[in-house]
Amino acid sequence: MTTQARHVRTLTLILVGVIPLSVAPLSLRNAADRAGVLMGTAVRPAQLSEVTYATSLSRDFNMVEPEDAMKWWVVRRNQDRFDFGPGDEVVRFAHAHGMKVRGHCLLWARDNPEWLAQGHFTPAQLSRLLYDHIAHVMRHYAGQVFAWDVVNEALDENGGVRDSIWYNRPGIGFAGKGRRYVEQAFRWAREADPQALLFYNEAEGEELNRKSDAIYDLVRDFKRRGVPIDGVGLQLHISKLDLDVAGLEANIARLAALGVQVHITELDVSLPLNPEGDLVSKDDLTRQARIYRSVVRACLETSGCTAIQTWGFTDKYSWIGSSSHGFRGMALPLDRAYRPKPAHGTILEELTAGRNHKR
Ligand code: XIL
Repeated sequence: MTTQARHVRTLTLILVGVIPLSVAPLSLRNAADRAGVLMGTAVRPAQLSEVTYATSLSRDFNMVEPEDAMKWWVVRRNQDRFDFGPGDEVVRFAHAHGMKVRGHCLLWARDNPEWLAQGHFTPAQLSRLLYDHIAHVMRHYAGQVFAWDVVNEALDENGGVRDSIWYNRPGIGFAGKGRRYVEQAFRWAREADPQALLFYNEAEGEELNRKSDAIYDLVRDFKRRGVPIDGVGLQLHISKLDLDVAGLEANIARLAALGVQVHITELDVSLPLNPEGDLVSKDDLTRQARIYRSVVRACLETSGCTAIQTWGFTDKYSWIGSSSHGFRGMALPLDRAYRPKPAHGTILEELTAGRNHKR
């Protein structure tokens, strides 16, 4: 080999080794891996065959959660059989891309099939149905779903127990007995898959308020009495652009102090839209980015907060449009064409800066 050829080879080796590191844009996923935190998103199996959806998803996230595919109305569309098809698709995708799977959810007052909600079952029958559901679904996904939202949104805004088919309409046998039915679900869940982490997931209990006080009280009580619970999911669907960050941090810290993990489970920051579907104010994208930054930072800086998950990742597919009847939207870090919005940038910056906190 001539001297010149040797130089070319040496230079090539150096460039091959260095360039990918220096020019490859850091993804949320890489930054989250380095920070030692899970960065997840809710997914829709029907979209996994869309190339840009799938590539954006596996580039930016190390965890997925089916947005609907593991809920009763999908898994139990028919009373006499379990349909794991859509949930399995999500699990297969996650497996192929080295991502973790969060399961959502085993018990909720909403998103139940008609045959269940209108079935006029007795408490004994409902109890059997719920026991079978928890056992069957958790065993099917044992070893694949590492954490489950066992119970979703059982509390009302005053911290009381919300009316539900599982609680008092007619309930599984603990109507009027407060959180006893929640406790029962957690005990059945531990029995079904002892390895899975068991979460209580709740909306609007992220800052310090009556609901978050009630969540805190529930966890403290369960911990004291040995009722199995491993974590609290704080949904964080944010529709006001002035989050009380100090309250959120204090809330995460007090839950973590009880010995449970905290996951941010359904983060989105919806913005007001005009009748044409455009932003009312362009500045809102900056405000939105600021909120995403605060939430990510709050999680990274509080030990015990181990996952940050957005409720979808592209404005192309988000529940906000239909749930707000078009009045709000653009809630996620990528726009409808999968281009990063300012929020994507602030999440990335915080994850990158936060890498020392969690290690
Ligand atoms: C929403 C889904 O995003 C929608 O696709 C579905 O039609 C209704 O449910 N809190 C939860 C989630 O725990 O399960 C909800 O998801 C959003 C509010």
